[in-house]
Amino acid sequence: MPGHIRFPVLWRAGLAMFFGLGLGLGLGLGLARAQTPPLAEGPGRDTVEAACAVCHSLSYIQMNAKFLGPDVWKAEVAKMRGVFGAPIDDTAAAEIVAYLVARYGVAKP
Ligand code: HEC
Repeated sequence: MPGHIRFPVLWRAGLAMFFGLGLGLGLGLGLARAQTPPLAEGPGRDTVEAACAVCHSLSYIQMNAKFLGPDVWKAEVAKMRGVFGAPIDDTAAAEIVAYLVARYGVAKP
């Protein structure tokens, strides 16, 4: 039965692909992280970096910076907490919103 011979070969190829993909993703993420420009200086920056980089790159903030006004940043942080379950308490959230509005907000939403 040729099937008996082919199966382990395929299985091994699958394994190699699996680990190859993992390595590729890991390297890719590492590079993406290294290339993310640092957040703007300002009070609250450390809080933002600690709270917001858990799940995704901080470049999400930078990519949206040109579009979001104070209300939208507030809603954005509320969404990260409510919908996605970000572990951020009220004090930290207020600090984060203030920072985002000051450094990455537009005057008019
Ligand atoms: C618990 C995980 C988690 C944490 C912590 C988190 N986010 Fe997110 N964030 C997500 C997910 C999930 C998405 C949407 C899916 C995607 O595109 O990856 C997202 C998307 C975004 C976006 C893109 C716009 C949007 O609404 O999809 C912005 C901006 C953003 N996050 C900002 C923040 C900020 C600011 C913080 C810190 C206060 C933060 N995130 C913390 C999970 C998280």
